[in-house]
Order: sequence, then structure tokens, then C-alpha cells
Amino acid sequence: MKLHISKTKQEVAQEFADFLIDLASDKQSITVALSGGSTPKIVFDHLATEYKHTDWSKFHFYWGDERCVPPTDNDSNYKMTVDYLLSKIEIPSENIHRILGDNIPEAEALRYSKELEKNLPLENEVPQFDLVILGMGDDGHTASIFPHEMELWDATEFCVVATHPESGQQRISVTGDVINNAKAVAFLVTGASKKDKIDAILNSQNDDLEYPASLVSPLSGELHWFMDEEAAQGIYK
Ligand code: 6PG
Repeated sequence: MKLHISKTKQEVAQEFADFLIDLASDKQSITVALSGGSTPKIVFDHLATEYKHTDWSKFHFYWGDERCVPPTDNDSNYKMTVDYLLSKIEIPSENIHRILGDNIPEAEALRYSKELEKNLPLENEVPQFDLVILGMGDDGHTASIFPHEMELWDATEFCVVATHPESGQQRISVTGDVINNAKAVAFLVTGASKKDKIDAILNSQNDDLEYPASLVSPLSGELHWFMDEEAAQGIYK
């Protein structure tokens, strides 16, 4: 596990962007599962400006999770990614592998599972991403696996239908096998609201892993945490 702690959100964005571009530098093609929510916005902004002229045609973007809403909905992770990154770079449309939030949830979980199986190399009989980017909620959820549905982490399916604990909004999410099968996993977590869970996960001596984010442990051992000081303040207490 490698901790990348930066003073500010902007510096986190810079460090993560450099990491991503470096990871792709010796590859003809790279598959990346993007995270959603708001944290990635500053990273996408940075990539769209500082790395606008990168050869984006080698990148294949997928999502680790998506809200079951149309792609035009402000809640859509796809829409956020288009607004902050995809609309500002040159990338072939066939390289964008959207989770169809406007599809029937159960059908989309199955369809996306098959898309991952078809497009990604299988390692341990599980689709393998070069990189899975994850956020973490204040409650310790990651992708769209929430604490009240921990059993979804261990589902045999590669994608499942999850439910937001407060809003009841349905989500499509990849499951633990896909996340932990990635060649590399990078958490992008900023802000003081995340510090308690970061502290619990990174400092916990006990094995009662009660948050989905604490179950992230890639078989490759390649786990990175990109954080600002606000989120990381409890680690060195
Ligand atoms: C989503 C995300 C989710 C997100 C966390 C953190 O669809 O919401 O994939 O896992 O990464 O909820 O969200 P923020 O970046 O908004 O804090």
C-alpha cells in the first residue's frame, strides 16, 4: 500500500494525474474503471487542461459504478465525466464504455458484466482492469457497495444492483472480485469528512472489516491512497 498525501485537493489532483499518465506511458492500451461522485471533478479538470494533448486513444474508460439515471441527469457519473473531461479531450467514442443508467437495473448489471468479460483480459477467471479508481463515502462505502449491503461485495456476479441507503436510488456497481483483481487500485479521497473512516481503515489493528472500503485489497498488492491532509489527518495521530 502506498500513501500519497498532498496538502491541498489541487495537489492531490496533480499527483494523481501524474500517476495515471505515468501508468499509461509504457502501454499501447490501458483500461481504467472511473469513480464517480464529486472528488474526481478536480482531477478531471486537471487532466483536461494539463494533459489535454496526451494520446487519449490508448485509454479505455469504464465506470466502477453508476447511478440508475439517464446519461443527461446531473446525478449521472457518466455526465459528470463528460462535463469535466471527455468533452474536453480527443478520445474515440468506442473507448468510452458507459454503464447504461437508463437501462433496467437488473438487465444492465448483467449486460455490463458481460461487457467486462468480453473486453477485458480474464485473470483468475475475473475481468482484470489495469486500474480501478475508487472514491470513498463518509460511511465507508466504495463504488456503490454500501455498509448496509456488504454481502454485495462478495457476490459471484461481476456487477450488481445496489441501493443507496438514504435515497433508495438504485446503482450499478462492480463487485469485490473485480476491484481486487485489478492490476492496480487507487483511492481518491479528500476532505475532513472522510478522516474518521480513513483512520479506522488505515490504522485498524483488528480484522473486523466493517466498511466496504476496508475490503479493498488487490491481489496484485498495488494499492494507492491519494489523499489531502484533511482526509489523512488521523493517520499519524
Ligand atoms: C458514486 C461514487 C462513490 C463516490 C463516493 C465519494 O457514484 O457516488 O462512485 O463511490 O466515490 O460516494 O463521493 P464524493 O467524491 O462525492 O465524496
